[in-house]
Amino acid sequence: MTSVFITSSGTGVGKTLVTASLAHQLRRGGTAARVLKPVISGFTPEDFDESDTAILLQSQETAPTGDAIDRMSPFRFAAPLSPDMAAARENRSIDFEALVAFCRDAAAGPEDITLIEGVGGVMVPLTERETVLDWMAALGAPCLLVVGSYLGTISHTLTAAGTIAARGLAISAIVISESEESPVPVAETQATIQRFLPDISISAVPRLSGAKPWLEAPDLTSLI
Ligand SMILES: Nc1ncnc2c1ncn2[C@@H]1O[C@H](COP(=O)(O)OP(=O)(O)OP(=O)(O)O)[C@@H](O)[C@H]1O
Ligand SMILES: [Mg+2]
Repeated sequence: MTSVFITSSGTGVGKTLVTASLAHQLRRGGTAARVLKPVISGFTPEDFDESDTAILLQSQETAPTGDAIDRMSPFRFAAPLSPDMAAARENRSIDFEALVAFCRDAAAGPEDITLIEGVGGVMVPLTERETVLDWMAALGAPCLLVVGSYLGTISHTLTAAGTIAARGLAISAIVISESEESPVPVAETQATIQRFLPDISISAVPRLSGAKPWLEAPDLTSLI
């Protein structure tokens, strides 16, 4: 079964928006997808409705039951910090092997495709030793690299892409999710990134509005 790891150059750039868009679009097209946000920090009952887990469950039209939350996001931490720090605040740590096994087991399930949203950027620590990049390498799944269009994104994008490539991992595509403020038109940023990464397909998601922006995204299913 196909798995895709949705990663990014940093936090808050659009991974959940892209993952929810894909989940919704695949479902609409009749493709069964398993959607995972295995590690989530800043997860509290009061803020549940805004959490990545809640948004991704909505995009699948799945009720947020305890079981559904456990199936999507088994590694949950309250502090809005990098996962290693958030776990330490609770005297816990992420069992990296268990995290990898959880994703592999999910990918071996009956669905046609597994979408795995990472956490933060590529080099965010998960444990004292392992980063998101180590998690991606352990799974070996191709990734979608989601980036913004803010001032500074070109360097962040090329750094993230270079880091992924240096580890020998495949980037299926880069998605530029338009940031709240962009110094130049997104097409100009896209063309510049493309000049440095001529072999990678790059798409853009314009700035969307509404309570559920993932309903409005252009079709991204051809990227996976
Ligand atoms: N193209 C866009 N149009 C409208 N809003 C966007 C767009 N891209 C991102 N956003 C909004 O920016 C915020 C951050 O995006 P998102 O939650 O998808 O980031 P993320 O990479 O998943 O962050 P995290 O690292 O916390 O998981 C959200 O409110 C999201 O809806
Ligand atoms: Mg997210």
